[in-house]
Amino acid sequence: MRARHIFAVIAGLALPLVIGCELPGRPGPEPEVPRPESVTSFDQLYAENCSGCHGKNGDHGPAANLANPEYQALIDDVSLRDVIVNGEKGTLMPGFGNKAGGQLTDQQIEAIVQGNRSRWKKDNALGGQSPPPYKAAHPADPSKGQAVYAMACARCHGEDAQHRGSAGSILDGSFLALINEQTVRTTIIAGRPDIGEPDWRNHIPGRPMTDDEITNVSAWLIAQRPAAPGQPYPNMQPASEKPGEEQPKTTAGDRPSKASAKP
Ligand code: HEC
Ligand code: HEC
Repeated sequence: MRARHIFAVIAGLALPLVIGCELPGRPGPEPEVPRPESVTSFDQLYAENCSGCHGKNGDHGPAANLANPEYQALIDDVSLRDVIVNGEKGTLMPGFGNKAGGQLTDQQIEAIVQGNRSRWKKDNALGGQSPPPYKAAHPADPSKGQAVYAMACARCHGEDAQHRGSAGSILDGSFLALINEQTVRTTIIAGRPDIGEPDWRNHIPGRPMTDDEITNVSAWLIAQRPAAPGQPYPNMQPASEKPGEEQPKTTAGDRPSKASAKP
């Protein structure tokens, strides 16, 4: 009886020594979850950081169609890296580089740049034609942009904000608040085959758009951005600024129609 007791105690003490390395909670030599900065697979980086806005496969997202081979042919490595590191000012594109307050290391940014190319760049995407440069080479003259809009955009996007074309209004104030000149430029040149926006060769029937036309219409569009984008009643004063005055009564007529609220 006594000997059995002693044996049980010794066995109990020895057990952790035998299976010690598998005890739950004991850390192994490698971290169980890889450190975020050690991830360099394009698929994982893209899925975690980009797909929500640019689409699971680089298309049909709210933001630029990265899987468009014309886009990959248009943008050079330096510009592509710069957008990912620093973001796109005036849009919702955040900067991902450590120096811009983002979470990704230089090595991870490089993996994303290279992954964009190997996944989506195609030989001869432009059929041997040279597009206008990615960035505007000359200063814009926005005053010349309205005529270009009428010639190159109105047939699909409507002649003005009140007349929406079949492709929806791009003069809607809330839409203009989310884009910048580079976004418009990129969209015109490379097109967005995923949603039906033509490339620079197919806006004006019979001839490609020129670099200056693209520069001027992009600047003119952004110049149409209202001072208070997204405000359905931009002229309404807050009550506190106008003591004693009655607030105008809202009627159904003041409300923007459902159609014009959506870009
Ligand atoms: C919160 C949404 C959001 C996330 C997340 C995001 N982007 Fe963007 N991105 C945008 C918007 C908005 C624009 C500017 C509008 C446009 O080009 O459609 C943009 C623009 C870009 C452009 C430039 C397009 C041009 O005009 O040349 C590139 C390249 C780009 N993003 C790559 C990435 C990559 C790579 C990631 C992931 C590391 C990423 N984005 C994550 C929203 C996002
Ligand atoms: C042949 C018709 C057509 C012409 C011409 C055209 N577009 Fe579009 N555009 C489209 C379609 C279709 C869409 C997608 C609309 C949607 O998603 O509802 C679009 C979308 C856009 C978008 C939004 C892209 C995005 O990322 O959501 C912009 C910006 C744009 N067009 C700019 C222009 C400009 C500037 C011009 C003139 C230089 C122009 N388009 C001429 C058909 C056209």
